[in-house]
Amino acid sequence: MLVTDQTLDPKDWNTMRQLGHQMIDDMMDLLENIGDQPVWKNIPATAKTFYQEPVPQRPTSASAVYEEFKQFILPYYKGNIHPRFFAWVEGTGTPMGVLAELLAAAMNPNVGIGEHAAMYIDKQVIDWCKQMLHYPATASGILLSGGSMANVTGLAVARNHQLNKNIRKEGVRTVKGQMLLYCSAETHSCIQKAAEVLGLGTDAVRKISVDENYRININELVNTIEADILIGHHPFCIVGNAGTVNTGAVDPLEDLLAICNKYNLWLHIDGAFGALAKLAPEFSDSLKVIEAADSVAFDLHKWMYMPYEVGCVLIKNAKAHRDTFSVTPSYLTQVERGLAGGLESNNSFGLELSRGFKALKVWMSLKEHGLEKYAAMIRQNIKQAFYMGELINKEPKLELLTPVTMNIVCYRYNKTGLSNDALNQLNKEILIQLQEQGIASPSSTVLQGKYAIRVANVNQRSKLADFRLLVKETCRIGDDLMSGNFVK
Ligand SMILES: Cc1ncc(COP(=O)(O)O)c(C=O)c1O
Repeated sequence: MLVTDQTLDPKDWNTMRQLGHQMIDDMMDLLENIGDQPVWKNIPATAKTFYQEPVPQRPTSASAVYEEFKQFILPYYKGNIHPRFFAWVEGTGTPMGVLAELLAAAMNPNVGIGEHAAMYIDKQVIDWCKQMLHYPATASGILLSGGSMANVTGLAVARNHQLNKNIRKEGVRTVKGQMLLYCSAETHSCIQKAAEVLGLGTDAVRKISVDENYRININELVNTIEADILIGHHPFCIVGNAGTVNTGAVDPLEDLLAICNKYNLWLHIDGAFGALAKLAPEFSDSLKVIEAADSVAFDLHKWMYMPYEVGCVLIKNAKAHRDTFSVTPSYLTQVERGLAGGLESNNSFGLELSRGFKALKVWMSLKEHGLEKYAAMIRQNIKQAFYMGELINKEPKLELLTPVTMNIVCYRYNKTGLSNDALNQLNKEILIQLQEQGIASPSSTVLQGKYAIRVANVNQRSKLADFRLLVKETCRIGDDLMSGNFVK
Protein backbone atom coordinates (compact mmCIF):
# COMPACT_ATOMS: atom_id res chain seq x y z
CA MET A 1 0.00 0.00 0.00
CA LEU A 2 1.31 3.46 -0.88
CA VAL A 3 1.67 5.62 2.22
CA THR A 4 0.86 9.24 1.43
CA ASP A 5 1.70 11.23 4.53
CA GLN A 6 5.34 10.29 4.96
CA THR A 7 8.03 12.77 5.90
CA LEU A 8 11.79 12.78 6.44
CA ASP A 9 11.41 14.68 9.70
CA PRO A 10 12.20 12.67 12.85
CA LYS A 11 9.42 10.82 14.63
CA ASP A 12 10.93 11.92 17.90
CA TRP A 13 12.20 15.49 17.74
CA ASN A 14 13.66 15.29 21.25
CA THR A 15 16.00 12.45 20.36
CA MET A 16 17.13 14.37 17.27
CA ARG A 17 17.61 17.51 19.37
CA GLN A 18 19.77 15.60 21.88
CA LEU A 19 21.82 14.12 19.06
CA GLY A 20 22.32 17.64 17.69
CA HIS A 21 23.50 18.88 21.09
CA GLN A 22 25.93 15.95 21.27
CA MET A 23 27.29 16.77 17.80
CA ILE A 24 27.89 20.38 18.76
CA ASP A 25 29.64 19.33 21.98
CA ASP A 26 31.81 16.88 20.08
CA MET A 27 32.74 19.38 17.37
CA MET A 28 33.59 22.12 19.86
CA ASP A 29 35.77 19.60 21.77
CA LEU A 30 37.45 18.66 18.51
CA LEU A 31 38.26 22.24 17.57
CA GLU A 32 39.31 23.25 21.09
CA ASN A 33 41.84 20.41 21.28
CA ILE A 34 42.79 19.90 17.66
CA GLY A 35 46.38 21.01 18.27
CA ASP A 36 46.95 17.92 20.46
CA GLN A 37 45.97 15.63 17.60
CA PRO A 38 48.13 14.57 14.66
CA VAL A 39 47.77 16.96 11.75
CA TRP A 40 47.09 14.03 9.41
CA LYS A 41 46.68 10.26 9.52
CA ASN A 42 46.82 7.50 6.95
CA ILE A 43 43.34 6.17 6.18
CA PRO A 44 43.23 2.48 7.14
CA ALA A 45 41.97 -0.19 4.74
CA THR A 46 38.86 -0.81 6.90
CA ALA A 47 37.76 2.77 6.38
CA LYS A 48 38.45 2.61 2.65
CA THR A 49 36.30 -0.52 2.43
CA PHE A 50 33.57 1.30 4.35
CA TYR A 51 33.70 4.14 1.79
CA GLN A 52 32.77 1.64 -0.91
CA GLU A 53 29.54 0.38 0.64
CA PRO A 54 26.66 0.50 -1.86
CA VAL A 55 23.76 2.90 -1.56
CA PRO A 56 21.73 2.04 1.54
CA GLN A 57 18.20 0.85 0.76
CA ARG A 58 17.04 0.51 4.36
CA PRO A 59 17.15 3.05 7.21
CA THR A 60 19.79 3.34 9.92
CA SER A 61 19.01 5.29 13.09
CA ALA A 62 20.36 8.85 13.19
CA SER A 63 22.55 8.02 16.19
CA ALA A 64 24.04 4.99 14.40
CA VAL A 65 24.78 7.14 11.34
CA TYR A 66 26.58 9.60 13.60
CA GLU A 67 28.58 6.74 15.16
CA GLU A 68 29.71 5.72 11.67
CA PHE A 69 30.73 9.30 10.96
CA LYS A 70 32.80 9.34 14.16
CA GLN A 71 34.42 6.01 13.39
CA PHE A 72 35.21 6.27 9.70
CA ILE A 73 35.07 9.89 8.61
CA LEU A 74 35.94 12.30 11.39
CA PRO A 75 39.34 10.80 12.39
CA TYR A 76 40.61 11.09 8.83
CA TYR A 77 40.16 14.83 8.49
CA LYS A 78 42.25 16.72 5.97
CA GLY A 79 43.87 18.74 8.73
CA ASN A 80 43.26 22.34 7.71
CA ILE A 81 41.57 22.85 11.09
CA HIS A 82 44.95 22.11 12.73
CA PRO A 83 47.48 24.79 13.78
CA ARG A 84 50.27 23.14 11.77
CA PHE A 85 48.44 22.78 8.47
CA PHE A 86 50.15 24.86 5.77
CA ALA A 87 49.40 22.96 2.56
CA TRP A 88 48.19 24.58 -0.68
CA VAL A 89 46.31 27.71 0.51
CA GLU A 90 43.58 26.44 2.81
CA GLY A 91 41.91 28.39 5.58
CA THR A 92 41.18 27.06 9.04
CA GLY A 93 37.53 27.92 9.65
CA THR A 94 36.19 29.05 13.03
CA PRO A 95 33.69 27.76 15.62
CA MET A 96 31.27 30.57 14.71
CA GLY A 97 31.64 29.55 11.08
CA VAL A 98 30.56 26.02 12.03
CA LEU A 99 27.48 27.32 13.82
CA ALA A 100 26.62 29.70 11.00
CA GLU A 101 26.66 26.77 8.57
CA LEU A 102 24.21 24.97 10.86
CA LEU A 103 21.89 27.97 10.91
CA ALA A 104 22.14 28.45 7.16
CA ALA A 105 21.31 24.78 6.60
CA ALA A 106 18.33 25.00 8.98
CA MET A 107 16.89 28.02 7.17
CA ASN A 108 17.95 26.38 3.90
CA PRO A 109 17.14 29.27 1.58
CA ASN A 110 18.02 29.06 -2.07
CA VAL A 111 19.72 32.44 -2.44
CA GLY A 112 19.13 32.72 -6.17
CA ILE A 113 15.94 34.69 -6.23
CA GLY A 114 13.03 35.93 -4.10
CA GLU A 115 12.05 38.35 -1.40
CA HIS A 116 13.57 36.89 1.78
CA ALA A 117 16.22 37.97 4.27
CA ALA A 118 19.05 35.82 2.92
CA MET A 119 19.01 37.76 -0.36
CA TYR A 120 19.63 40.98 1.57
CA ILE A 121 22.40 39.46 3.70
CA ASP A 122 24.04 38.13 0.55
CA LYS A 123 23.94 41.63 -0.92
CA GLN A 124 25.18 43.18 2.31
CA VAL A 125 28.16 40.83 2.36
CA ILE A 126 29.01 41.82 -1.23
CA ASP A 127 28.83 45.47 -0.11
CA TRP A 128 31.14 44.65 2.80
CA CYS A 129 33.56 42.96 0.38
CA LYS A 130 33.67 46.17 -1.67
CA GLN A 131 34.25 48.22 1.47
CA MET A 132 37.01 45.88 2.65
CA LEU A 133 38.95 46.39 -0.58
CA HIS A 134 37.90 50.04 -1.06
CA TYR A 135 36.33 48.99 -4.33
CA PRO A 136 33.71 51.34 -5.84
CA ALA A 137 30.28 51.09 -4.21
CA THR A 138 28.65 51.06 -7.65
CA ALA A 139 30.40 47.80 -8.58
CA SER A 140 28.55 44.49 -8.70
CA GLY A 141 29.68 41.19 -7.30
CA ILE A 142 28.73 37.67 -6.46
CA LEU A 143 29.69 35.08 -3.87
CA LEU A 144 30.83 31.83 -5.43
CA SER A 145 32.28 28.51 -4.32
CA GLY A 146 35.87 29.76 -4.55
CA GLY A 147 38.66 31.48 -6.42
CA SER A 148 38.43 29.31 -9.53
CA MET A 149 34.76 30.17 -10.02
CA ALA A 150 35.37 33.82 -9.15
CA ASN A 151 38.13 34.05 -11.75
CA VAL A 152 36.15 32.41 -14.56
CA THR A 153 33.18 34.65 -13.77
CA GLY A 154 35.32 37.79 -13.99
CA LEU A 155 36.97 36.61 -17.19
CA ALA A 156 33.59 35.80 -18.79
CA VAL A 157 32.59 39.44 -18.30
CA ALA A 158 35.95 40.62 -19.66
CA ARG A 159 35.58 38.40 -22.74
CA ASN A 160 32.05 39.61 -23.50
CA HIS A 161 32.70 43.25 -22.78
CA GLN A 162 36.03 44.07 -24.38
CA LEU A 163 35.33 43.58 -28.07
CA ASN A 164 32.70 45.59 -29.82
CA LYS A 165 30.82 42.42 -30.71
CA ASN A 166 27.88 40.44 -29.45
CA ILE A 167 29.96 37.53 -28.16
CA ARG A 168 27.05 36.28 -26.14
CA LYS A 169 25.02 35.68 -29.28
CA GLU A 170 27.72 34.82 -31.77
CA GLY A 171 30.30 33.17 -29.57
CA VAL A 172 33.97 33.81 -30.24
CA ARG A 173 33.91 32.08 -33.62
CA THR A 174 33.13 35.30 -35.51
CA VAL A 175 36.10 37.15 -34.03
CA LYS A 176 38.79 37.45 -36.68
CA GLY A 177 42.14 36.73 -35.08
CA GLN A 178 42.43 35.39 -31.56
CA MET A 179 41.18 36.93 -28.32
CA LEU A 180 44.21 36.90 -26.05
CA LEU A 181 44.73 37.09 -22.32
CA TYR A 182 48.08 37.86 -20.68
CA CYS A 183 49.39 36.72 -17.32
CA SER A 184 52.61 35.63 -15.72
CA ALA A 185 53.88 32.09 -15.92
CA GLU A 186 53.30 31.91 -12.15
CA THR A 187 49.54 32.43 -12.54
CA HIS A 188 47.23 29.81 -11.02
CA SER A 189 46.08 27.02 -13.35
CA CYS A 190 42.43 28.05 -12.90
CA ILE A 191 43.05 30.95 -15.31
CA GLN A 192 44.03 28.52 -18.04
CA LYS A 193 40.97 26.39 -17.28
CA ALA A 194 38.82 29.52 -17.43
CA ALA A 195 40.20 30.36 -20.88
CA GLU A 196 39.46 26.81 -22.01
CA VAL A 197 35.83 26.74 -20.83
CA LEU A 198 35.25 30.26 -22.17
CA GLY A 199 36.01 28.90 -25.63
CA LEU A 200 39.24 30.88 -25.96
CA GLY A 201 41.53 27.89 -25.64
CA THR A 202 44.84 27.35 -23.92
CA ASP A 203 46.62 29.08 -26.80
CA ALA A 204 44.81 32.30 -25.87
CA VAL A 205 46.72 32.46 -22.58
CA ARG A 206 50.01 34.23 -23.16
CA LYS A 207 52.16 33.21 -20.24
CA ILE A 208 54.79 35.86 -19.71
CA SER A 209 58.03 34.98 -17.93
CA VAL A 210 58.80 36.30 -14.44
CA ASP A 211 61.71 38.13 -12.88
CA GLU A 212 63.83 36.81 -10.02
CA ASN A 213 61.03 37.74 -7.60
CA TYR A 214 58.44 35.77 -9.56
CA ARG A 215 56.72 38.95 -10.80
CA ILE A 216 55.60 39.34 -14.40
CA ASN A 217 58.21 40.70 -16.80
CA ILE A 218 56.79 44.01 -17.95
CA ASN A 219 58.99 44.48 -21.05
CA GLU A 220 58.16 41.04 -22.35
CA LEU A 221 54.47 41.67 -21.66
CA VAL A 222 54.41 44.87 -23.71
CA ASN A 223 56.44 43.35 -26.55
CA THR A 224 54.13 40.35 -26.72
CA ILE A 225 51.00 42.51 -26.77
CA GLU A 226 52.41 44.69 -29.54
CA ALA A 227 53.50 41.72 -31.62
CA ASP A 228 50.05 40.15 -31.22
CA ILE A 229 48.30 43.33 -32.30
CA LEU A 230 50.55 43.57 -35.37
CA ILE A 231 49.47 40.15 -36.59
CA GLY A 232 45.77 40.92 -36.15
CA HIS A 233 45.00 39.33 -32.79
CA HIS A 234 42.82 40.87 -30.09
CA PRO A 235 44.46 41.27 -26.72
CA PHE A 236 41.55 41.79 -24.33
CA CYS A 237 42.72 41.22 -20.78
CA ILE A 238 45.64 41.13 -18.39
CA VAL A 239 45.38 38.99 -15.27
CA GLY A 240 47.52 40.44 -12.51
CA ASN A 241 48.49 38.40 -9.48
CA ALA A 242 47.97 39.76 -6.01
CA GLY A 243 49.77 36.88 -4.34
CA THR A 244 50.87 34.01 -6.57
CA VAL A 245 50.12 30.51 -5.40
CA ASN A 246 53.77 29.37 -5.47
CA THR A 247 55.50 32.19 -3.63
CA GLY A 248 52.98 34.93 -2.79
CA ALA A 249 54.46 37.33 -5.37
CA VAL A 250 52.53 40.48 -6.22
CA ASP A 251 52.87 41.56 -9.85
CA PRO A 252 53.70 45.24 -10.50
CA LEU A 253 50.02 46.10 -10.59
CA GLU A 254 50.53 49.84 -11.27
CA ASP A 255 52.38 48.94 -14.46
CA LEU A 256 49.69 46.48 -15.46
CA LEU A 257 47.02 49.13 -14.99
CA ALA A 258 48.96 51.61 -17.15
CA ILE A 259 49.37 48.98 -19.88
CA CYS A 260 45.66 48.15 -19.73
CA ASN A 261 44.82 51.83 -20.09
CA LYS A 262 47.19 52.26 -23.02
CA TYR A 263 46.00 49.22 -24.99
CA ASN A 264 42.38 49.30 -23.81
CA LEU A 265 42.54 45.99 -21.97
CA TRP A 266 40.51 44.69 -19.04
CA LEU A 267 42.52 44.41 -15.81
CA HIS A 268 41.47 41.38 -13.80
CA ILE A 269 43.21 40.65 -10.53
CA ASP A 270 43.52 37.17 -9.13
CA GLY A 271 43.81 37.94 -5.46
CA ALA A 272 42.58 34.55 -4.28
CA PHE A 273 44.34 35.04 -0.95
CA GLY A 274 46.56 38.07 -1.51
CA ALA A 275 43.83 40.63 -2.19
CA LEU A 276 42.97 40.55 1.49
CA ALA A 277 46.56 41.40 2.41
CA LYS A 278 45.39 44.88 1.42
CA LEU A 279 43.94 45.03 4.94
CA ALA A 280 47.51 44.98 6.31
CA PRO A 281 49.18 48.42 6.24
CA GLU A 282 52.37 46.81 4.85
CA PHE A 283 50.47 45.90 1.66
CA SER A 284 47.93 48.69 1.36
CA ASP A 285 50.14 50.62 -1.11
CA SER A 286 51.25 47.77 -3.36
CA LEU A 287 47.67 46.48 -3.56
CA LYS A 288 45.96 49.85 -3.94
CA VAL A 289 45.57 49.27 -7.68
CA ILE A 290 42.93 46.66 -6.90
CA GLU A 291 40.61 49.63 -6.38
CA ALA A 292 41.02 50.56 -10.04
CA ALA A 293 40.90 47.05 -11.54
CA ASP A 294 37.98 46.07 -13.75
CA SER A 295 37.47 42.93 -11.72
CA VAL A 296 39.00 41.18 -8.72
CA ALA A 297 38.59 37.60 -7.54
CA PHE A 298 39.32 36.53 -3.98
CA ASP A 299 38.46 33.87 -1.46
CA LEU A 300 36.93 34.24 1.96
CA HIS A 301 37.70 30.61 2.79
CA LYS A 302 41.40 31.37 2.55
CA TRP A 303 42.46 34.54 4.32
CA MET A 304 39.17 35.27 6.04
CA TYR A 305 39.21 31.81 7.64
CA MET A 306 35.60 31.07 6.65
CA PRO A 307 34.57 27.43 6.45
CA TYR A 308 34.50 26.03 2.92
CA GLU A 309 33.24 27.24 0.53
CA VAL A 310 33.07 30.93 -0.23
CA GLY A 311 34.82 33.10 -2.79
CA CYS A 312 33.87 36.41 -4.35
CA VAL A 313 34.28 38.33 -7.58
CA LEU A 314 33.71 42.08 -7.81
CA ILE A 315 33.15 43.74 -11.18
CA LYS A 316 33.48 47.46 -11.57
CA ASN A 317 31.08 47.73 -14.51
CA ALA A 318 27.85 46.29 -13.10
CA LYS A 319 26.12 46.62 -16.47
CA ALA A 320 28.79 44.57 -18.21
CA HIS A 321 28.42 41.98 -15.45
CA ARG A 322 24.64 41.80 -15.82
CA ASP A 323 24.87 41.80 -19.63
CA THR A 324 27.05 38.70 -19.45
CA PHE A 325 24.70 36.53 -17.41
CA SER A 326 21.17 37.90 -17.24
CA VAL A 327 18.40 35.83 -18.88
CA THR A 328 14.83 35.97 -17.66
CA PRO A 329 12.55 33.14 -18.72
CA SER A 330 8.90 33.46 -17.69
CA TYR A 331 9.31 31.19 -14.67
CA LEU A 332 11.95 33.55 -13.21
CA THR A 333 10.09 36.80 -13.78
CA GLN A 334 10.24 39.12 -10.80
CA VAL A 335 7.24 41.15 -9.73
CA GLU A 336 6.65 44.18 -7.52
CA ARG A 337 5.21 42.33 -4.48
CA GLY A 338 5.19 38.94 -2.81
CA LEU A 339 7.84 36.22 -2.73
CA ALA A 340 8.91 36.82 -6.34
CA GLY A 341 9.64 40.49 -5.64
CA GLY A 342 12.65 41.98 -3.94
CA LEU A 343 16.24 42.31 -5.08
CA GLU A 344 17.46 41.48 -8.55
CA SER A 345 18.08 37.76 -8.94
CA ASN A 346 21.66 36.63 -8.32
CA ASN A 347 21.23 34.58 -11.46
CA SER A 348 21.87 37.81 -13.39
CA PHE A 349 25.46 37.87 -12.09
CA GLY A 350 26.68 34.32 -12.57
CA LEU A 351 26.00 30.87 -13.94
CA GLU A 352 24.32 29.48 -10.85
CA LEU A 353 20.63 29.75 -10.18
CA SER A 354 20.46 27.64 -7.03
CA ARG A 355 22.87 28.93 -4.41
CA GLY A 356 23.25 28.28 -0.70
CA PHE A 357 23.35 30.82 2.11
CA LYS A 358 27.16 31.07 2.19
CA ALA A 359 26.84 34.75 3.05
CA LEU A 360 25.62 33.97 6.56
CA LYS A 361 28.95 32.63 7.84
CA VAL A 362 30.71 35.70 6.45
CA TRP A 363 28.14 38.03 7.96
CA MET A 364 28.19 36.38 11.39
CA SER A 365 31.98 36.09 11.50
CA LEU A 366 32.56 39.72 10.52
CA LYS A 367 30.05 40.79 13.17
CA GLU A 368 31.66 38.52 15.74
CA HIS A 369 35.22 39.77 15.27
CA GLY A 370 35.06 43.02 13.31
CA LEU A 371 37.26 43.78 10.31
CA GLU A 372 40.12 45.13 12.44
CA LYS A 373 40.60 41.70 13.98
CA TYR A 374 40.84 40.11 10.53
CA ALA A 375 43.44 42.70 9.52
CA ALA A 376 45.39 41.81 12.68
CA MET A 377 45.16 38.08 11.93
CA ILE A 378 46.39 38.56 8.37
CA ARG A 379 49.31 40.63 9.63
CA GLN A 380 50.02 37.93 12.19
CA ASN A 381 50.18 35.27 9.46
CA ILE A 382 52.57 37.43 7.44
CA LYS A 383 54.77 38.06 10.50
CA GLN A 384 54.80 34.33 11.27
CA ALA A 385 55.93 33.58 7.71
CA PHE A 386 58.76 36.13 8.00
CA TYR A 387 59.67 34.62 11.38
CA MET A 388 59.90 31.18 9.82
CA GLY A 389 62.07 32.63 7.04
CA GLU A 390 64.43 33.99 9.71
CA LEU A 391 64.57 30.63 11.49
CA ILE A 392 65.47 28.95 8.21
CA ASN A 393 68.14 31.52 7.44
CA LYS A 394 69.71 30.88 10.85
CA GLU A 395 69.68 27.10 10.39
CA PRO A 396 72.64 25.92 8.27
CA LYS A 397 70.89 22.67 7.37
CA LEU A 398 68.03 24.51 5.70
CA GLU A 399 67.88 26.74 2.66
CA LEU A 400 65.27 29.37 1.89
CA LEU A 401 64.49 28.98 -1.81
CA THR A 402 63.04 32.44 -2.29
CA PRO A 403 62.82 35.41 0.07
CA VAL A 404 59.58 35.56 2.05
CA THR A 405 57.45 38.41 0.71
CA MET A 406 54.01 37.64 2.11
CA ASN A 407 52.70 34.50 3.81
CA ILE A 408 54.46 31.77 1.82
CA VAL A 409 57.76 30.14 2.75
CA CYS A 410 59.55 27.84 0.29
CA TYR A 411 62.54 26.00 1.71
CA ARG A 412 64.46 22.75 1.66
CA TYR A 413 66.80 20.68 3.73
CA ASN A 414 70.21 21.05 2.14
CA LYS A 415 73.39 19.07 2.47
CA THR A 416 76.52 19.90 0.56
CA GLY A 417 77.67 17.17 -1.73
CA LEU A 418 74.21 16.06 -2.81
CA SER A 419 73.09 16.60 -6.39
CA ASN A 420 69.95 18.62 -7.05
CA ASP A 421 68.09 15.44 -8.01
CA ALA A 422 69.12 13.79 -4.76
CA LEU A 423 68.03 16.87 -2.79
CA ASN A 424 64.70 16.80 -4.59
CA GLN A 425 64.16 13.16 -3.61
CA LEU A 426 65.29 13.81 -0.06
CA ASN A 427 62.97 16.77 0.46
CA LYS A 428 60.04 14.95 -1.08
CA GLU A 429 60.55 12.20 1.50
CA ILE A 430 60.96 14.73 4.34
CA LEU A 431 57.64 16.31 3.42
CA ILE A 432 55.83 12.98 3.31
CA GLN A 433 57.30 12.03 6.69
CA LEU A 434 56.30 15.36 8.24
CA GLN A 435 52.74 14.52 7.22
CA GLU A 436 52.80 10.80 8.01
CA GLN A 437 54.28 11.40 11.44
CA GLY A 438 51.40 13.82 12.04
CA ILE A 439 53.75 16.74 12.75
CA ALA A 440 52.84 19.33 10.15
CA SER A 441 51.34 19.53 6.68
CA PRO A 442 53.16 21.85 4.32
CA SER A 443 52.78 21.03 0.61
CA SER A 444 55.34 21.28 -2.16
CA THR A 445 56.25 23.08 -5.33
CA VAL A 446 59.22 23.23 -7.67
CA LEU A 447 61.14 26.50 -8.02
CA GLN A 448 63.75 26.62 -10.78
CA GLY A 449 64.10 22.86 -10.70
CA LYS A 450 64.40 22.73 -6.92
CA TYR A 451 61.81 20.77 -4.95
CA ALA A 452 60.52 23.08 -2.25
CA ILE A 453 58.70 22.34 0.98
CA ARG A 454 56.07 25.05 0.82
CA VAL A 455 54.35 26.64 3.81
CA ALA A 456 51.32 28.80 2.97
CA ASN A 457 50.07 30.41 6.13
CA VAL A 458 46.37 31.31 6.24
CA ASN A 459 45.98 29.59 9.59
CA GLN A 460 44.25 31.39 12.44
CA ARG A 461 45.33 28.70 14.97
CA SER A 462 49.11 28.73 14.42
CA LYS A 463 51.47 30.11 17.03
CA LEU A 464 55.18 30.93 16.66
CA ALA A 465 56.00 27.65 18.44
CA ASP A 466 54.35 25.75 15.57
CA PHE A 467 56.87 27.22 13.13
CA ARG A 468 59.77 26.48 15.47
CA LEU A 469 58.61 22.88 15.69
CA LEU A 470 58.31 22.57 11.92
CA VAL A 471 61.86 23.86 11.41
CA LYS A 472 63.23 21.55 14.10
CA GLU A 473 61.40 18.51 12.79
CA THR A 474 62.44 19.16 9.18
CA CYS A 475 66.05 19.05 10.38
CA ARG A 476 65.46 15.93 12.48
CA ILE A 477 63.82 13.98 9.66
CA GLY A 478 66.45 15.20 7.18
CA ASP A 479 69.24 14.10 9.56
CA ASP A 480 67.57 10.73 10.14
CA LEU A 481 67.25 10.13 6.44
CA MET A 482 70.86 11.14 5.83
CA SER A 483 72.19 8.91 8.61
CA GLY A 484 70.29 6.01 7.05
CA ASN A 485 71.92 7.03 3.77
CA PHE A 486 68.55 7.56 2.16
CA VAL A 487 70.16 9.43 -0.71
CA LYS A 488 73.52 8.49 -2.15
C1 LIG B 1 46.38 32.55 -6.54
C2 LIG B 1 45.25 31.56 -6.58
N1 LIG B 1 44.30 31.70 -7.51
C3 LIG B 1 43.24 30.86 -7.58
C4 LIG B 1 43.12 29.82 -6.69
C5 LIG B 1 41.93 28.90 -6.79
O1 LIG B 1 41.06 29.15 -5.72
P1 LIG B 1 40.01 28.04 -5.23
O2 LIG B 1 40.84 26.89 -4.74
O3 LIG B 1 39.24 28.69 -4.14
O4 LIG B 1 39.16 27.66 -6.40
C6 LIG B 1 44.09 29.63 -5.71
C7 LIG B 1 44.00 28.50 -4.76
O5 LIG B 1 44.87 28.28 -3.95
C8 LIG B 1 45.17 30.54 -5.64
O6 LIG B 1 46.13 30.42 -4.71
